Amino acid sequence: MRNSEIGEIIQKDPGIAFAFYQLGILFPSHHELPVSGLCDKLNLDDQWLIRNLQELRKSDPLEWTPSNYNMPEVVNHLKSVHKFFIQEKLPFIFHLVNDIDPRSFDTQELARDLKMLFPLFYEDFVHHIRNEESQVFEYALLLHQVNENSGNPGLMHFLKSKVDLCQTAIEHLEEDDEMEGIRSLTNNFNCPEGASLIQRVVYWELEKFEKDLRRHSQMENDIFFPLAVDLEKKARKRLSKSLLEN
Ligand SMILES: [Fe+2]
Ligand SMILES: [Fe+2]
Repeated sequence: MRNSEIGEIIQKDPGIAFAFYQLGILFPSHHELPVSGLCDKLNLDDQWLIRNLQELRKSDPLEWTPSNYNMPEVVNHLKSVHKFFIQEKLPFIFHLVNDIDPRSFDTQELARDLKMLFPLFYEDFVHHIRNEESQVFEYALLLHQVNENSGNPGLMHFLKSKVDLCQTAIEHLEEDDEMEGIRSLTNNFNCPEGASLIQRVVYWELEKFEKDLRRHSQMENDIFFPLAVDLEKKARKRLSKSLLEN
């Protein structure tokens, strides 16, 4: 790896461009340099760089296999994935798409459409996450506290008026195709033969993001929502029982 050009390394493994970015090395700058040349230029230890690139390339922030699911831990994990999407992955893809020179794509029209469409998707996605965290997750954590006898049940009624859990769960299940527009624009992320390096990296990252997004949504659909609905049932039972007793 030490003597290979960065462009060559990324050509073989487009996913490693993100690892370079996580180490503060922006793609496509420096792509004509060998790793050793880059290290000389930035005064970096090449072994350190290679080891970190390999570790980052292997890391998977979505991976999570607890022995049992408890609401605060589920919410913590989901929020850490949101953070990864919003603070690392999407800014990287945004930077790539924003910097596309349309002449470097097989058709300039496609590049322009992507530059227009991606920021719209980005905005919608951030909105989805903000709502999820500020309303649905907050409510689920409160339900957990009520069941642990530590939450304010009055607040539960206040939040409940804002969050219809069953309806939100159904809508969440149905809205699993947020990237439909980008997928059809890029022909299911099929990169044309002989495409430029930047086009390959953009397609690879968009496809990877779609897969990650599906995994994340599935975890919300299969684990978070059923757990929250169950906590709500239990909390209701608990509240009506304590009302009868008083
Ligand atoms: Fe989410
Ligand atoms: Fe979601």
